[in-house]
Amino acid sequence: MIRPLYRFLQILLGIYLLCNDLFGRWIILSVKSMNYGDEKISKRIEFDRTNIPKNILVGSYFGGISHLRPPLEISKILIERGYNVALIAPGNFTLNYQNIKYFQIGEKVGTLDLREIYDEVFKKDYTSYHTFSITSDLMNSDYLKLFEIYMKVASEFKPDLFFCDDGSNEVCFDVAWKLKKPSIAICTWFIFRLYTPYRSDPSLGCHVNMEHESFIERFRCAIIAPIQYFYQTRKYTNDLNKLRAIVGVAPTSNYNDRLRDSLYFSDSFFGFDVPIHLPPLVQDVGPIMQDEYEPITPDLSLFLEKHKKTMLVSLGTTVYTTPKNYAILLQSFTEAINRKIIDGVIWSFDQRLHNSLPSELILSDGTIIPVNEILNNRNPNIYIVHYLPQFELLNHTNVKVFLSHAGKASSNEALYTATPILSLPIAFDQMGNAEALEASGVSLTLSKQDLQVEDIISKIERLLSEDSFKLNGKRMQALAMINSKRKYRAADMIEYLLLASQLTSESDDALISGISKGNINESEFTNSHLRELITPDTRMGFIRGQYLDVFGSLLGGILIILSAAILLVWFIVRICVSFIMLRFRILQKTKKE
Ligand SMILES: *[C@@H]1O[C@H](CO)[C@@H](O)[C@H](O)[C@H]1NC(C)=O
Ligand SMILES: *[C@@H]1O[C@H](CO)[C@@H](O)[C@H](O)[C@H]1NC(C)=O
Repeated sequence: MIRPLYRFLQILLGIYLLCNDLFGRWIILSVKSMNYGDEKISKRIEFDRTNIPKNILVGSYFGGISHLRPPLEISKILIERGYNVALIAPGNFTLNYQNIKYFQIGEKVGTLDLREIYDEVFKKDYTSYHTFSITSDLMNSDYLKLFEIYMKVASEFKPDLFFCDDGSNEVCFDVAWKLKKPSIAICTWFIFRLYTPYRSDPSLGCHVNMEHESFIERFRCAIIAPIQYFYQTRKYTNDLNKLRAIVGVAPTSNYNDRLRDSLYFSDSFFGFDVPIHLPPLVQDVGPIMQDEYEPITPDLSLFLEKHKKTMLVSLGTTVYTTPKNYAILLQSFTEAINRKIIDGVIWSFDQRLHNSLPSELILSDGTIIPVNEILNNRNPNIYIVHYLPQFELLNHTNVKVFLSHAGKASSNEALYTATPILSLPIAFDQMGNAEALEASGVSLTLSKQDLQVEDIISKIERLLSEDSFKLNGKRMQALAMINSKRKYRAADMIEYLLLASQLTSESDDALISGISKGNINESEFTNSHLRELITPDTRMGFIRGQYLDVFGSLLGGILIILSAAILLVWFIVRICVSFIMLRFRILQKTKKE
């Protein structure tokens, strides 16, 4: 009886496995026969754009061109699709972006113009929240002026959507809120947008990856550091709320409040960043690369022809370091060239900093070198320029290593070109980037507090000789290339939001934001168009949203069962023990007798 049944089951299992195999093959075949050509797909899903609102206002306040490039690259795609884009930003940029209407808000004030403020941040150990208070202070002091400019531009340009850089740029989101228009944020650094306990940041005195930290460290970085941060930034939120009251903008309780239901783009990708779970509203769209880059100038081209092992050096346009560090850097370049570890250095060095170098360099072997010769480019192996076409240089085969401040844009360019990085982070997100780059195996890090000639030279040597940097560089390059296509997705999402804002009725708005239920929270109003991406937990309240009621009950149940079990065991043990004791006493009694 059992044998035939067993046979039958075996045959059934065989048929199942066969079907499974055939089905799998069929799927592989049909996927192979599908065409993923971009043209084909775009032809299929083209939607009618005639009635979509078309005006997009890009706003940026802090960070200059490195913060402007990501939103402007995305805007470029949108302009090609027929949208109108205007930009509000400080400074006078020669923008390489055609057809963007530019509203300038005063001169761009660089960090070198504000040395009395930034010296402390750039020179001291960077484990405080100090930079946030500086940029928040600047924002607050300009808030009313900026608000007025935004409102004036808005009345002229009539934006349908605000596309705001998220670096101390509250005014952009506030104006969108005031005009009841949707807004989208874009940033390079969103550690404070999402709370993820296992990812922190050196600016909080912690690490980007908390995986291997002790319990005490994890406790401090998950609980104490964020509380300290929010406590310290409360003052700026309070100050800002007073200014908001003047222009009729609702206050917020913290920095995230107004952005909570907004789409949030980040110019980053996992592999560089520590991977975390992202909610649907927060989307990694980086690395956002340009379609074209400035070509290498003839003089640099000539230099590179003669120097097959060149190191590119650039600390970006925002940060600077101490005169002592600049002297150490220059000494290590000279000695690395003398020792034939590299044969050339191209250094992007701001003219305004030239006088912070000493007039003479004394090398380790006692040789004295006049610095003026180097600064005037009379040294054949060190070439100093004020500004350089960084991407094309990194892409050049003779640039072998990149000494960088590890800013997001520079890091992305180095990863995209698979150039090993020697990081010298100075402030802001740079310490975290440097940690992440080192963890990806493409970089080594220097310390601005303890810069040493020998350390620099030995790290250059390692980056050039160890195979692991090349291998990891290739891996990260592939990831960067694949992910650099996501700027088109960002443009698609902006189009979708414009469409959705038009196809949302007032009653939908009210329903989603809970206004109809009587708990009016106007700050949620303008960004409720993306209800498809807003996770239900944000509407369910803390206890229900986190399922604390359900898991709490489960825990309670388990505790009750456990205690019952323990009680039972205790009873049984007690009975057994008293039984044994009884037997023992009887035994003793009989023995005595
Ligand atoms: C921007 O700078 C250029 C020269 O660099 C100057 O000719 C132009 O007038 C400036 N534009 C504004 C709006 O200041
Ligand atoms: C980078 O260099 C390679 C050749 O080394 C070239 O084919 C490619 O076009 C360059 N990329 C860019 C974006 O210029």
